[in-house]
Amino acid sequence: MTPTRTPALSLADAADLNQAPIDVAAVLDHLVCEADAAAATSIGFPGAVDLDQTEVLARLGGRLWNNIGDPQDPGAGAHTRALERAVIAWVADILAMPTDDRWGYITTGGTEGNLSALHAAHRRHPTARIYYSTAAHYSIPKAVEILGARAVVIDSRPDGEMDYAHLAAQIRKRRRWPAIVVATAGTTLTEAVDDHTRIHAVLNEHGVTGHLHIDAALSGIPLALDGRLRFDDAAGIGSIAVSGHKFLGAPTPCGVVLIRDSVRANGNRVAYTDTVDTTITGSRCGLAAALLWHAIATHGREGHRWRASEARTLAAYTVYQLTAAGWPAWRHPHAFTVVLPTPPEPVRKKWLLATDGDTSHIICMPGITRGQIDAFVADIATTAPPRQIPRPRLSLESRPKERTDDHR
Ligand SMILES: Cc1ncc(COP(=O)(O)O)c(C=O)c1O
Repeated sequence: MTPTRTPALSLADAADLNQAPIDVAAVLDHLVCEADAAAATSIGFPGAVDLDQTEVLARLGGRLWNNIGDPQDPGAGAHTRALERAVIAWVADILAMPTDDRWGYITTGGTEGNLSALHAAHRRHPTARIYYSTAAHYSIPKAVEILGARAVVIDSRPDGEMDYAHLAAQIRKRRRWPAIVVATAGTTLTEAVDDHTRIHAVLNEHGVTGHLHIDAALSGIPLALDGRLRFDDAAGIGSIAVSGHKFLGAPTPCGVVLIRDSVRANGNRVAYTDTVDTTITGSRCGLAAALLWHAIATHGREGHRWRASEARTLAAYTVYQLTAAGWPAWRHPHAFTVVLPTPPEPVRKKWLLATDGDTSHIICMPGITRGQIDAFVADIATTAPPRQIPRPRLSLESRPKERTDDHR
């Protein structure tokens, strides 16, 4: 139904639960109108907008689907564990994860996946230092803090990839402790992919054991479909987290975490729910599992490969058009993300660009159109072109020579 009304009051006033009567329909319509208006110029954040999920929402949206406990539990009442297990199996399969050493569940998002994986790794290696780069997502330092672990921050290169020489130097200083290393497959700002084979080489060279976690919130599924991200025995990866509302376009925040069965701890059985407590949250959203299952069931591997390929083609087109308009944009070859110098505020605000200082990005997620890109380029072309090409804040040249803060 198309919303036709907006409340005369501001949304905050109209939604105030202390006033009576409340015009519920007007408040909900107002939210939809605002979201619809923003959608046309929303090209800065990584949610795919091309998948139609109305069938799932119409059929399942009216009740609670709770996958409380471990996905392998039989469950009782209304739950979607069978679909959750199918999603976990599909994601593990496209990553070539060994069938005899896999476990996972559907999370509330990439953040919970990172926490769950780092929790498992830290339980196994309680004295480990957790290494992550300056380009890692903020959920990583947050997880480290929640776990009470020790962090070692590794420099990243101007293009967002980890500085492996700096990693080696920091590992060398702490070689007596195990290492939990977080590599990112698709950094938030530039969609850089850390090379886990180089990280392994560093660990092996220094005789350090531990756990390698891949934060693949955005790029995990598309890279796996290309065969560029593999979780097989040779890869030496312990865990991977992806977001479900990014490439797979679920209309509610969710994600998938995969952990090697052999590295995680068994949970306790909870008598009153008759489930095993292996997940970060207790109650878990069964609707999210159904939405992810539907996205996969209706498109399959080939459909999702095609979506990724179209999105990359649009990203390449965007770089070309921006460069032609005098804006020095760039992207990694596999990326949907286009990095550019931060445009003047009116353009940045209108197009909801994600910005970090002098660098911004747009993300050509499936569903973004050439028309939107052309309109954005037309807007930006009316502004003065920047003098500098974008560079992440911490360049190799500006790196401190020695981190004296800790060798712990
Ligand atoms: C690299 C990376 N990791 C983790 C996350 C967090 O994912 P979520 O928002 O699903 O919790 C993001 C979100 O943008 C991200 O870019």
